[in-house]
Amino acid sequence: MNAVEIEEAISNLAESSFDSLEFPFLFLSAFGNKETTLKQLRSGNSNKSDLGGILQRNNIHLKVCDIGEVTNTLLELRTSPATVKAKAKFILSTDGVELEAEDLSTGEVIACDFEKFSDHFGFFLPLAGITTVKQIRESAFDIKATGRLNRLYVELLKDNPDWGSAERRHDMNHFMARLIFCFFAEDTDIFNGADQFTGTIERMSERDSSNTHEIIEEIFRAMNTKPADRPDAGIARWANVFPYVNGGLFSGNTEVPKFSRIARSYFLHIGNLEWTKINPDIFGSMIQAVADDEERGALGMHYTSVPNILKVLNPLFLDDLREKLEEAGDNPRKLLNLRNRIAKIRVFDPACGSGNFLVIAYKEMRAIEAEINQRRDEIDRRTDIPITNFRGIELRDFPAEIARLALIIAEYQIDLAYRGQKEALADFLPLDAQNWITCGNALRLDWLSTCPPTGMGVKFLADDLFMSPVDQAEIDFENEGGETYICGNPPYLGSTWQSKEQKEDLQRIFEGRTKTWKSLDYVAGWFMKAADYGLHTPTVSAFVSTNSICQGEQVPVLWPLIFESGHGIVFAHTSFKWSNLASHNAGVTVAIIAIALSSSDGKCVYSIRGDGSTIAKTGETINAYLVHGPQIIVGKVSRSPKDRALMVWGNKPTDDGNFFLDSEKLRALISESPQAARFIRGIQRYCIWIDDAEVEAAGSIPEIARRINAIRDFRANSKAAETRPASAFPHRFRQIQGVSERSAFIIPRVSSERREYLPIGLLPEKSLVADSAFALYDAPLWNMALIASKLHLVWIATVCGKLETRYRYSNTLGWNTFPIPKLTEKNKEDLTRCADDILLAREAHFPATIADLYKPEDMPDDLRAAHERNDETLERIYIGRRFRNDTERLEKLFELYTKMTTQDIKHNPRMKA
Ligand SMILES: C[S@@+](CC[C@H](N)C(=O)[O-])C[C@H]1O[C@@H](n2cnc3c(N)ncnc32)[C@H](O)[C@@H]1O
Repeated sequence: MNAVEIEEAISNLAESSFDSLEFPFLFLSAFGNKETTLKQLRSGNSNKSDLGGILQRNNIHLKVCDIGEVTNTLLELRTSPATVKAKAKFILSTDGVELEAEDLSTGEVIACDFEKFSDHFGFFLPLAGITTVKQIRESAFDIKATGRLNRLYVELLKDNPDWGSAERRHDMNHFMARLIFCFFAEDTDIFNGADQFTGTIERMSERDSSNTHEIIEEIFRAMNTKPADRPDAGIARWANVFPYVNGGLFSGNTEVPKFSRIARSYFLHIGNLEWTKINPDIFGSMIQAVADDEERGALGMHYTSVPNILKVLNPLFLDDLREKLEEAGDNPRKLLNLRNRIAKIRVFDPACGSGNFLVIAYKEMRAIEAEINQRRDEIDRRTDIPITNFRGIELRDFPAEIARLALIIAEYQIDLAYRGQKEALADFLPLDAQNWITCGNALRLDWLSTCPPTGMGVKFLADDLFMSPVDQAEIDFENEGGETYICGNPPYLGSTWQSKEQKEDLQRIFEGRTKTWKSLDYVAGWFMKAADYGLHTPTVSAFVSTNSICQGEQVPVLWPLIFESGHGIVFAHTSFKWSNLASHNAGVTVAIIAIALSSSDGKCVYSIRGDGSTIAKTGETINAYLVHGPQIIVGKVSRSPKDRALMVWGNKPTDDGNFFLDSEKLRALISESPQAARFIRGIQRYCIWIDDAEVEAAGSIPEIARRINAIRDFRANSKAAETRPASAFPHRFRQIQGVSERSAFIIPRVSSERREYLPIGLLPEKSLVADSAFALYDAPLWNMALIASKLHLVWIATVCGKLETRYRYSNTLGWNTFPIPKLTEKNKEDLTRCADDILLAREAHFPATIADLYKPEDMPDDLRAAHERNDETLERIYIGRRFRNDTERLEKLFELYTKMTTQDIKHNPRMKA
């Protein structure tokens, strides 16, 4: 069950008549407990309660008590030995009038009227296995409203299927935005009197719902007609009480879809929610799902948490504003200057969804302005920050509608909080008619006209907030000379996931600049457009992005272009999980990267420590791998340097599977032709290996001859021209990079990102490595110590990048470039011992495979300890102690890399790294 479903279930329970016997089971069922589980509890089999209540192990101990005994009963539940023994997470008592509950892990307690307990449903979500961030627990209203609106939306589309068509989707979305506004307005006195909207519709519309749409239409018409024009317009008397809202919200097509009885009843239910509690920070993102067929399954769950948004906005400009506020103290002139500066700041999110980045930026700026006004003794002052300075582009229609609405609601709520209701209401209506959120494709639109940098006068003033042409924001800012901050979390989309249109978007941006744009993630388009924009006006742009644009093959494609434009990375936040729910921890790992025309100011890299706290480190430059250090881009080096063993690709069979045998096929071959044994190599997986001098002998074995012929045909008929000549020597691999005399190390080309170490393997003499892996043949053992280290893994993850989420290994990019300090004989001896220890620890677990041994949760202690010793030994060689974290590891590696490449270039000027 998701949070919306749980909310609905417990709301129904709170609203229905109280049944003291059934309540515990209905409560547990609302959190997803199955009938069979409940049956067991009812029968007493699994009920561990010692107080006559219901106790579900590892979950909850709850009891229905006599009237007035709720608090005492909660105390009994808390002190009951059974509660402790069964490790209950929650206790709950109720008499049907009141309800009290405690989360035993946090000590948090709720006490409320029984019928209101569904307002606290977020408190109970852990009962359904949903571990929430604080914010979602406090968003009961938004989740409730999302669920209800979704039902209404689906019901209306059922009754009015044409409104679901592509042509009418906009009308439908617009209608929903109008409703949300009206619900909010009637609960906040923007309309004249509470319940005016829902109440009027309830009174005036027939119970059979036949004229509901007409009543709503008439109210919308009133809200679109100025008071002076109303007599001529013939507005019905009962609708005349609604204020003139303008802002385009009610102009244009005021048609309303027809309501069935059910839709009418949903509608009245929604109207009776407490809309003052709406939280525009997250409401928009939740509500997006209402109009999105694909996202509806995760209703209410897809939103970006405020702390994550602040990770972008604080370093982007809010920290600076707060610092300036601090510096200004009570100095009225400095405060005034700061206020003027703030009023001119443009915030632009070119993938704004329902506007959460813009809303948060607006709220935070208003908080700073309110503090200025307070210090200047001007608390009633109207804000100088126009919401039209918060610009966005959004591809989808509904979120774009909601983004504007969210900003309007935020403006009202903030006025209410800082200036009081009278002032808030006085300035609220009519709404501003300007159109400042553009619906369209940000990679095709001209950002300079969507978010024009100077005050060039209004180009077009829409009289319709929502119905005006939305493919371009046509108004200018009242902020000549202001700063622009671009922000957002655009779609990341790796190259394999992009649609044809999305590829074309990238092509249009990158084609004239680089040939290799096809490997770029979609988000790269936003960085490039931001860099282009930044050439015209003072701008800092910070986007949430996947790490992959700062790793591996995308780095040499994207970043030289950004740097050549004069931009540099001005701050960055290294990898962190972008997830809202702890139970959805699989969420993407992201980074935040901010670019601006280069300046000499310190550049800060933020990163999350093991304990969850954030550290900030300032340096002179941040390179494309998000590490402090010179602006270098690691390129391929074709030969392994002399200070390490040669690493080559595994051998390429190009055989259609004919060289290989499993143990069953091997047994059959040997029993039929025992002389075939000398042509077989391998353990577990077997391979036919024929030296040139033995072709004839091998060919006399029928099964081997059959296989050789098959390979000849396969190669001769290959579509790849470079394969066909290899049909002349079908007895051997197409490409042979090496065969071991004594031993071989094998390193898979792709490895799970969950592993803490790269699983380098050791193969016995005469081993072959196929081309799914790299190989070091007959290499000294200390090479293995390097590859098995944390340091090497960090380097590989950074410079080789990933294949989807897995580590991608490369000899030319990862091994040949790996910076190694000069190793003494003693160092090599120590490392050899460490590698030996790792091998011995593995052997102790025979027959466990490498895959078993390196599962992070099951890695044996002795093997982990051997790796730790290896890391300790190696890191001491680098810096005389352990590195504190990966950031430090990378900084050192890049420092050595820079030295290594400049030396190489000095000695061999033609070498290009
Ligand atoms: C990851 S969401 C972020 C939205 C919002 N900030 C949030 O956290 O919910 C990315 C948004 O970009 C929009 N989008 C996708 N492609 C776009 C494009 N080419 N132009 C403009 N917006 C686009 C999507 O519809 C989506 O709303």
